[in-house]
Amino acid sequence: MKTLSTVRFGIIGAGQISGYAADSILRHPHAKLIAAQDLNPERLQALKDKYKLPVTYATAKELFADANIDAVYIATPNKFHVPLAKLALEAGKHVILEKPFAMNAQEAEEAIALAKKVGCVLTLGMNQRFDVNSQQIKSLVEQGVFGEIYHAKAYWMRRAGIPKLGTWFGNMELAGGGSLYDIGVHMLDLCLYTINNYEPVSVVGATYTKFGHRGLGEGGWGMSERSDIKFDVDDFASAFIRFANGATVTLDTTWACHTALGNKDNVEIFGTEGGATLRPARIFRSGKTPEASYEIVDQVKAPLAFPHQDRFHNFINYLRGEEKLCTEISQGLVVQKILDGIAESARTGKEVRLA
Ligand SMILES: NC(=O)c1ccc[n+]([C@@H]2O[C@H](COP(=O)([O-])OP(=O)(O)OC[C@H]3O[C@@H](n4cnc5c(N)ncnc54)[C@H](O)[C@@H]3O)[C@@H](O)[C@H]2O)c1
Repeated sequence: MKTLSTVRFGIIGAGQISGYAADSILRHPHAKLIAAQDLNPERLQALKDKYKLPVTYATAKELFADANIDAVYIATPNKFHVPLAKLALEAGKHVILEKPFAMNAQEAEEAIALAKKVGCVLTLGMNQRFDVNSQQIKSLVEQGVFGEIYHAKAYWMRRAGIPKLGTWFGNMELAGGGSLYDIGVHMLDLCLYTINNYEPVSVVGATYTKFGHRGLGEGGWGMSERSDIKFDVDDFASAFIRFANGATVTLDTTWACHTALGNKDNVEIFGTEGGATLRPARIFRSGKTPEASYEIVDQVKAPLAFPHQDRFHNFINYLRGEEKLCTEISQGLVVQKILDGIAESARTGKEVRLA
């Protein structure tokens, strides 16, 4: 890959997350925001005005044809992630794609093959990996502090956190899934990244739709307009995943449920020499001598895996040849396969083999 000195971006999708992306990109001294495109002209104009974009386009194809753009960020409803990524790659653009990667693993594999063929970078903007607490625990795992990690619990439980009802988020055809693919993907990705285990062998899972179809549990995320679109995705999912080395992971994810806290997300890891949580970073281990009492470390001191907390800065620094890429696309494929396996297991009531 030819390194770039300045990375010039185009944004596809001018919805709620795009502003956070624009802020990040513009905070980097070697990045520029050139253009954006959205099917909704008002949202597109608002993004253009706020970030003083030189140009907007009516279609993604026109943006991809702009020779002044090196890289594109795709933040549309999930159904369009891979089709748009493929068009961008064919036009020779590097791509940072929002989560979830794809509607299914087959689509994801096609995008990976195309990126390889055209020699462009394809990655996912897994922002949760950059949180300071996550980076610290990741560093300690790499140092072997926890010994053999044999189990982890990943969860994101919201009491009333369904993205805006009546939008694409709640529709299977446009989103591919509900809480599982929207926020379960974050915690599963963060968990596998932390324990560095990408060899799942089987999964069993269940999904439930108990709130959204009744018009309950809205949390408000999302700028797309409401319509009478059908809510037919999960708002609760639970899964058990086995790995080749014998380790196991549980994943629980809810957009809405009756629970103590309004919003709680975490990854908890269990190792032979210690355990840890990521939100916040805490360590649990035996005292250093048999007499010493049990040790709980609340003020974790550990090196950061990256000198910043920003997915776009990682992508830009990588394209400039200055930093390793945090999210390998092959890791995104493994996460996608597990999510697909959970959904299949939920449909069939059976365990799904992944290897
Ligand atoms: N990383 C995160 O933490 C995070 C947070 C929120 C959303 N997301 C992801 O970002 C993506 C967008 O989410 P959002 O919250 O901004 O949604 P949103 O509903 O606020 O905005 C989506 C935008 O996409 C536009 N759009 C729809 N189809 C399009 C197409 N074919 N081409 C171009 N534009 C199109 C819509 O008009 C809308 O402006 C989703 O994939 C979502 O999962 C990620």
